[in-house]
Amino acid sequence: MACWWKCSWDKGGVKIPFVNDNCIGCGACVAICDGVFNMDDEWKAFVVEWIDLSNVDCIDDAIWACPVSAIQYKN
Ligand code: F3S
Repeated sequence: MACWWKCSWDKGGVKIPFVNDNCIGCGACVAICDGVFNMDDEWKAFVVEWIDLSNVDCIDDAIWACPVSAIQYKN
């Protein structure tokens, strides 16, 4: 099941992450959680518009794996 982040707030209250400027492009978040994170042309991670809601538990794993603490949850 995929859902754009705006509707995910309305369907189950899934917390949505974002990637801050600390990202050094190590790629761990994409390897761990490719239904949520992807890499842009400058090799920086970003959160995809259509998140795979069936596998959001991996977001926490990606946060732990990021070596520069570049992933945070939106308030
Ligand atoms: Fe960047 Fe951290 Fe992902 S460095 S590529 S946000 S694991």
